[in-house]
Amino acid sequence: MSENKKLFIQTLGCQMNDTDSVHIQAELEKHKGYTATDKLEDADLIIINTCSVREKPVSKLFSEIGQFNKKKKEGAKIGVCGCTASHLGKDIIKRAPYVDFVVGARNISKIKDVVDVKGAVEISIDNDESMYEFASANTNRYRVGVNISVGCDKKCTYCIVPSTRGEEISIPPEMIVNEVQKAVNNGAVEVMLLGQNVNSYGRRFSDGREKYTFTRLLQDVSKVEGLKRIRFTSPHPLHMDDEFIEEFAKNEKISKCIHMPLQSGSTEVLKSMKRGYTKEWFLNRAAKMRQLVPNLRITTDIIVAFPGETHEDFLDTLDVVNQVKFDQIFNFKYSPRPGTEALNMADKEIPDEIGSARLTELIELHKRYLEESMPPLIGSTVNVLIESLKPNGEVTGYTDNYLQVFAKGSDEYLGKFVDVKVTDVTRTALKGEIIS
Ligand code: SAH
Ligand code: SF4
Ligand code: F3S
Repeated sequence: MSENKKLFIQTLGCQMNDTDSVHIQAELEKHKGYTATDKLEDADLIIINTCSVREKPVSKLFSEIGQFNKKKKEGAKIGVCGCTASHLGKDIIKRAPYVDFVVGARNISKIKDVVDVKGAVEISIDNDESMYEFASANTNRYRVGVNISVGCDKKCTYCIVPSTRGEEISIPPEMIVNEVQKAVNNGAVEVMLLGQNVNSYGRRFSDGREKYTFTRLLQDVSKVEGLKRIRFTSPHPLHMDDEFIEEFAKNEKISKCIHMPLQSGSTEVLKSMKRGYTKEWFLNRAAKMRQLVPNLRITTDIIVAFPGETHEDFLDTLDVVNQVKFDQIFNFKYSPRPGTEALNMADKEIPDEIGSARLTELIELHKRYLEESMPPLIGSTVNVLIESLKPNGEVTGYTDNYLQVFAKGSDEYLGKFVDVKVTDVTRTALKGEIIS
């Protein structure tokens, strides 16, 4: 094992990719003697951890690796990992021959074996990593992401993820609890439990053990001493049963911000997306959450211009936005993806200008809502877990319902809960003064 080799990783995509990158780094540090650098020019190994959920990041990928190839130091290697690696495989090396290896999103545990194999392509989506114990990441951050499952068993008709990450397998609860405990021993106070569909957790384990539920997992994780806050993403609105909502409401360690990916407010569109729920079900679940959880913040994902989406369908989406009053919306224009069922609906595709106009209307509507809902917070006091110190002497962190807060401070506050009096707001964050 030679020392002093440097690794540069660029991560695109979702939080599962962030965690995969942490695992890649930890594995290469432990088994191959790499240390991380944030300077591409110094790196002996450059890895791009890719996303293919929409077309744009994929088309950018090749120009980006071309840039990396120009800037890298003599002899440095380039690896492509993640979801685009899964679906393009060896074509990546064909198109960009200076790429040394390709490792798919479900093959991260193989990274240490392929880094030195020129031309290696590991993209099997049947690979089972659910029992693999990754090297411990020696981070001292206050927040850690812990995977609770791999893959996704849903077949949402627009989505490429099931074909890049394969079938869903849950990671055994004791391994998850152990991971969380290790992270807490390393300084973490908050955990983000990660899976493409977290509340279907426990339906299949690779050792054939009995079923488990997400609610039980939340109870197990909340018993980890020293852990202060639990978050998770993404839950599926279909599986938000009463038991789950009640646990969410009463478990004090669970952050009171939930991601409820709507996708569309139209029952018709939801049906052709194969989401499994109706507009009414979604509204019912959101109302139940709001009723049991005071101060709840709800975030969502919305896709506009799915094939066949009529103006009336779009109005249903706006109606749900008006009723649920989402605190944050991640908006996307539908993007056709290879291998998905929605590709067969190409004849119903919505013209791009209509898609853009719908996107703008949705963004404007939500902006107006935030401009009304945020100012009343001025003058209130919020409790904040401080996570980082910026060079300008401001500290930042999040409230229990996950609103970002900025205040003047110092490193003595890091990792601690403080009360902040709110003096100003933007559409997405609070500014204030630490009062205790
Ligand atoms: N498992 C998560 C989603 C992962 S993908 C969930 O079900 O919530 C993240 C988001 O990207 C999705 O929620 C969806 O809104 C968006 N997305 C996925 N495929 C897309 C596509 N083909 N076009 C546009 N947006 C898409
Ligand atoms: Fe994609 Fe649907 Fe699975 Fe989410 S639940 S990853 S949107 S197939
Ligand atoms: Fe992208 Fe794969 Fe995540 S496609 S959103 S990196 S699961």
